[in-house]
Amino acid sequence: MEIKHHSSLDNLIEEIEYAVDCIYNKGNIPEKSSINKVNLSKDESKASERVMRINHMGEICAQGLYRGQAAHTKDQNLKMKLYDICNEENEHLKLCNLRLKELNGSSSVLNPLWYLSSYVLGSVAGIKENDWKLGFIEETERQVTDHLKESMKQLPANDIRSKEFLEKISKDEERHRDTVKRIGSNEIPNSIKTGMNISSKIMKKLTSLF
Ligand SMILES: [Fe+2]
Ligand SMILES: [Fe+2]
Repeated sequence: MEIKHHSSLDNLIEEIEYAVDCIYNKGNIPEKSSINKVNLSKDESKASERVMRINHMGEICAQGLYRGQAAHTKDQNLKMKLYDICNEENEHLKLCNLRLKELNGSSSVLNPLWYLSSYVLGSVAGIKENDWKLGFIEETERQVTDHLKESMKQLPANDIRSKEFLEKISKDEERHRDTVKRIGSNEIPNSIKTGMNISSKIMKKLTSLF
């Protein structure tokens, strides 16, 4: 197989293109459907929109983290694995985009900021790979799985479709966690875990507002 040699500028352009596509491209979303919409009252629809908007932001962040770590790791096998998982996060993003559109909702205007900050964190994890290996990503996937369980409880009982989407996503996130554990991850310090938890709470709050 031919190995492409990219210059730093090529890499930078590729990363920017991916980020823009991730944040703004609604890619492959079928035209608005009326599935399950009819069953939801205005209030229920609003509640579902809030849940899906936050999960949409989570999928943006996941891709920032994976791309950042992949760009900075020297381990080529790990790099490919990170890109594979990132592709699945992109599928999750499409599901969240689709559901948001069906609910007449919109994504957060802060998403570029969340992508960028996640990318920086992922890059730090990539640079510190000898200490943390994949510990940072393992912890992220663990917190995401917990968050998804909470999200499913917050959905109106009528909103079967959003629940189905989140169940599918949750299964994948659990698998991601197992995958990074298998590749080898070190536990990150508790102070970082707590910091991640607090910052995700702040991000969720801001995302629900803006
Ligand atoms: Fe995901
Ligand atoms: Fe994941």
